[in-house]
Amino acid sequence: MSAIFDVAVIGAGPGGYVAAIRCAQLGLNTVCIDEWKNPQGKPSLGGTCLNVGCIPSKALLESSENYERAAGKFAAHGIRIENLSFDVPTMIARKDKIVSAFTGGVAMLLKKNKVTSIHGRGILLSGGDGDTPWRIAVSDGDEKEMVEARHVIIATGSTPRQLPFAPVDNERILDSAGALALTDVPARMGVIGGGIIGLEMGSVWRRLGAEVTILEALPGFLAAADEQVAKEARKLLTRETGLVIQTGATITGISAGENSVAVEYATPENGAAKLEVDKLIIAVGRVPNTAGLGAENIGLKVDERGYIEVDDHCRTNLRNIYAIGDVVRGPMLAHKASEEGVAVAETIAGQDGHVNLGTIPSIIYTSPEIAWVGKTEQELKAAGVSYKAGQFPFMANGRARALGETGGFVKVLADAATDRILGVHMIGPYVSEMIAEAVVAMEFAASSEDIARIVHAHPSLSEVLHEAALGVEKRAIHI
Ligand code: FAD
Ligand code: NAI
Repeated sequence: MSAIFDVAVIGAGPGGYVAAIRCAQLGLNTVCIDEWKNPQGKPSLGGTCLNVGCIPSKALLESSENYERAAGKFAAHGIRIENLSFDVPTMIARKDKIVSAFTGGVAMLLKKNKVTSIHGRGILLSGGDGDTPWRIAVSDGDEKEMVEARHVIIATGSTPRQLPFAPVDNERILDSAGALALTDVPARMGVIGGGIIGLEMGSVWRRLGAEVTILEALPGFLAAADEQVAKEARKLLTRETGLVIQTGATITGISAGENSVAVEYATPENGAAKLEVDKLIIAVGRVPNTAGLGAENIGLKVDERGYIEVDDHCRTNLRNIYAIGDVVRGPMLAHKASEEGVAVAETIAGQDGHVNLGTIPSIIYTSPEIAWVGKTEQELKAAGVSYKAGQFPFMANGRARALGETGGFVKVLADAATDRILGVHMIGPYVSEMIAEAVVAMEFAASSEDIARIVHAHPSLSEVLHEAALGVEKRAIHI
């Protein structure tokens, strides 16, 4: 390939492919390099998110929740289903079909926007002196080619963190990708790590009948969430989904036999214990993909945990090299990666690209769903910020009652002096959709008074946010 590109993007996950499209929209001659292969060995764009992350997990969460509703909750509506059954291979095939529609869609979008797409591993080689372009070797098996570009966007994402004493074989010991590809329901499932993946994947297989035990190292549950939300989540996920959640668990040994996996652990309250399961999911966080990228060839700064060091504008220590998404600081979320991709493309094109990391929503797609944006109460307390809180339960909302989904609440935290919204925390039905209103409000620096004065349709779940905002000044109506 002889042309010098304006921009080379390494990685075609939601960070990289979105960056590449935005670059092309802005008139930049762009190449996108990605090495992902699907289980059939074919190149598959979209990175973790589309192949083994956001999209397939939500497909299985939806299928398993539908089954759970049909098996239990429908009865309260007077709907009886006899001989109800499910088959996992159909669920998996549906999930795979959704994945391939989207990964194929990314290929189409790149083509439509005239982004050159190259399959293979990108390795940073040299460049950057004076006007010399950056040089990237791309290797795909025996095939090698050289790409030259004036700007580079690194969007190489992340992979599951491994526990050295529990090697993943995706037979007995699974990572998140393995947990999305089971073809039958294990009777007993263990999960190491009570974070987002543990809860989402644990929910899928629990709803389909597995006995699921989650072992979390930290003494608290869902440390990143607001403490009150985390407490409610633990209660509802235990009582309604039937997850067994053990916090403060130190794993002392894991051994995989032919038919089962034995996990030895200890807790402060009960001492040593043993868990025997058919499948064990390891979900203890993710690590940035910087190994094998060639950072050392060009002097790119990578911190001791493997993250590429960037400033507020995703600029690395090297001229014209940017890094975005999971491979840099901040939450490992697809929408954060994409927004950074857009911002960097605009910066390269001479515009003022920027991402506000303070208004990135987080969502956990369990039942009930959990969503938040901004600061938690514990963060505000630790920072010494005075705030007021308004809270309203789904139990008192007409739409939630009609749905039969009455667990949870919405909480609005506002600055005590200015009333500016500092955080919104939700647990309940469809809060993954409701959180968008709170994000808009915070992005526009709204006060709780602003939400309190906006007309919310009746009956709708959004009234719970309205009432929580009214509650900041103790004037909620329906409680
Ligand atoms: P990635 O999506 O990881 O993409 C990086 C790409 O770069 C990959 O294709 C990789 O093969 C390629 N690559 C790496 N190194 C090289 C190289 N040297 N040369 C060429 N190519 C390379 N986030 C959400 O926001 N919502 C969710 O619901 C959600 N659910 C998730 C569920 C699961 C089970 C998992 C595992 C993750 C989930 N995430 C979710 C997180 C989300 O997937 C990531 O935050 C997101 O994919 C990060 O995007 P990225 O572009 O930075 O990296
Ligand atoms: P996580 O960081 O959410 O949770 C990992 C958990 O494992 C933590 O609670 C941690 O304390 C625990 N842990 C670590 N080491 C342990 C050990 N040795 N024993 C027991 N527990 C241990 O990471 P997770 O769940 O792997 O997900 C990775 C990331 O992927 C998430 O942080 C999130 O950014 C993204 N993701 C987002 C989703 C969404 O947006 N809905 C869904 C799934 C993943």
